[in-house]
Amino acid sequence: MKKIKWGILGTAKIACEKVIPAMQKSNYSEVYAIASRMADKAENAQKRLEIPFAYTSYEALLKNKDIQAVYIPLPNHMHVEWTIKALKAGKHVLCEKPMALSLTDVKQIMEISREKGLKVSEAFMVKTHPQWIMAKKIIQEGKIGRLRSIHGFFSYYHDDLENIRYKYKLGGGGMWDIGVYPVFTAHFIFDEEPEKVLALMKYEPKTRVDILASAILDFPSGQATFTVGTQLVPYQRMQFFGTEKMLEMQIPFNAPPDKAVELKLTAGDLFDKDHEIIEIPAINQYTLQADEFSKAILNNTEVAVSLENSLKNTAVLEALFKSAVSGSWEKPEY
Ligand SMILES: NC(=O)c1ccc[n+]([C@@H]2O[C@H](COP(=O)([O-])OP(=O)(O)OC[C@H]3O[C@@H](n4cnc5c(N)ncnc54)[C@H](OP(=O)(O)O)[C@@H]3O)[C@@H](O)[C@H]2O)c1
Repeated sequence: MKKIKWGILGTAKIACEKVIPAMQKSNYSEVYAIASRMADKAENAQKRLEIPFAYTSYEALLKNKDIQAVYIPLPNHMHVEWTIKALKAGKHVLCEKPMALSLTDVKQIMEISREKGLKVSEAFMVKTHPQWIMAKKIIQEGKIGRLRSIHGFFSYYHDDLENIRYKYKLGGGGMWDIGVYPVFTAHFIFDEEPEKVLALMKYEPKTRVDILASAILDFPSGQATFTVGTQLVPYQRMQFFGTEKMLEMQIPFNAPPDKAVELKLTAGDLFDKDHEIIEIPAINQYTLQADEFSKAILNNTEVAVSLENSLKNTAVLEALFKSAVSGSWEKPEY
């Protein structure tokens, strides 16, 4: 089977612990090279993960002509710069979320990817996970009646102020780290764009990054509300309320690779009547993500998460940050 040769920029935790081992199980992807700013880190990762090539700079990796695609798990503020450098070096790019911290930057990436005829996708692995595909199907088939309200929660506890998530200039904060998921999935499920949004945020006093944020997104057919927090009990849930039933996703964002996940369809918890559990077999969402991106390159088809999706997402995030400061509703500028 033909496989795409991938290069990885940096030895990020998410890459070394989750994404690379998952990509190595993919049918269409080969992890061919890794680069680090530090020689010992590059060498250690290469040995530990059994990767054929290691480079001591990101630029050097991009010069390898055999590499067709690059995965970018760098700190958020570096995503745009390295996506553009990789495109200019002739590589397709799978970039970690958030792809960019501004709408202008997404537009620039769009222009360059079009010019170069190369694929770029934001690594929202949830989009290809069967539980999200099933949830969308159930809702589209009208099994909850008319969808009117989406409610989401995503939190974890992390107070190491040295972590990139606490560096304001690096694109830190809970909204950029995990708030992007309920925004992305609300778009995906409603299949519409919110007309206006409102956000409320609390900030870590020393670093000024948001540690607690709540938002309302006003869509033409309903509303999405969510809370994200980075100094809270670890928890995640997405609930989709229709005129007849409610669908609940119990592990919406970090579905384990080795355990089945469940969707619960209920006519109302109060009486617990007519309650159905839909089991989704275990699958590694990072393997699927790599397979889907590699297949899009091999077959020259659409990527799962398009740059248009990223554009809409980023517009909403920009408006949410604006609203947290203005205290008013803000309109995303698509
Ligand atoms: N999809 C998901 O499930 C998921 C989960 C977690 C994180 N993420 C995303 O993945 C990205 C990385 O997150 P992470 O927590 O894995 O990061 P991390 O462990 O802190 O790694 C970031 C890497 O970037 C490189 N780097 C370059 N300049 C840096 C700088 N100034 N400061 C720190 N590191 C720098 C480093 O690699 P070298 O030193 O080797 O060059 C470092 O290992 C973020 O964009 C995050 O949003 C996604």
